[in-house]
Amino acid sequence: MIRLQNVNKDYGGRPALVNANLNIGLGEFAFLVGPSGAGKSTLMRLLYREEIPSSGKVFIGGVDITRIHARQVPLLRRRLGIVFQDYKLLPRQTVFDNVAYILRALGVDQSSINRRVTSALCVVNLEDKAKAYPDELSGGEQQRVGIARAIVNGPPVLLADEPTGNLDPQTSLEIVQLLERISTRGTTVLISTHDQFIVNSLRRRVISLRNGEIVSDVDSGTYEMEVKVATP
Ligand SMILES: Nc1ncnc2c1ncn2[C@@H]1O[C@H](COP(=O)(O)OP(=O)(O)O)[C@@H](O)[C@H]1O
Ligand SMILES: [Mg+2]
Repeated sequence: MIRLQNVNKDYGGRPALVNANLNIGLGEFAFLVGPSGAGKSTLMRLLYREEIPSSGKVFIGGVDITRIHARQVPLLRRRLGIVFQDYKLLPRQTVFDNVAYILRALGVDQSSINRRVTSALCVVNLEDKAKAYPDELSGGEQQRVGIARAIVNGPPVLLADEPTGNLDPQTSLEIVQLLERISTRGTTVLISTHDQFIVNSLRRRVISLRNGEIVSDVDSGTYEMEVKVATP
């Protein structure tokens, strides 16, 4: 579902991703780990075509998305669910309307909207908060709304860039377990994180980035953060 082929990304001559090769299959679940600045967000942004690589190819479901026209980008994004660290919910809209937003934009009829939003809220266990506003929810609940919004259109691929970056350890674990459950329904899930607790709790595929390079890629992996030794 996701494939990178010899991908390089420079920002003004400074490399952020170096000769990245990666294959993530249908329904797979993987963590993308590495310290701050390793290139995790860059890799994620290449996958939803927020950035284009300096060289190399990026495939989503067999389509090289570096070659698609700008007007096809919205079509690509419809096949991707994207979850953000800061949730990016619309503050003046209810939970229901936040989740319904994309369906309305696509002109889906009202009864399908009701059915699909209710079903997505059910997956994240927030049916009883449909009428609430984002600021009435905890951080973990807001992120669950973000996940419901990401899956409401049934995308084959779910990308989450540091989805637990603003959450406490227990809530973080619940969020990644929810994403894991979603992957068992056939969705390909890629989660970037530098949180070793959640990675080591789940023991799933771990792709490690360091200085823009994929330095390891293992099944049932763990993540040990490098300890920074202060130099005098
Ligand atoms: N828009 C940008 N312009 C210039 N440099 C950037 C930009 N985005 C990221 N970088 C640089 O690219 C490298 C990788 O950053 P990033 O992908 O954000 O890493 P991570 O998400 O792992 O913290 C860092 O050195 C960062 O400073
Ligand atoms: Mg990042």
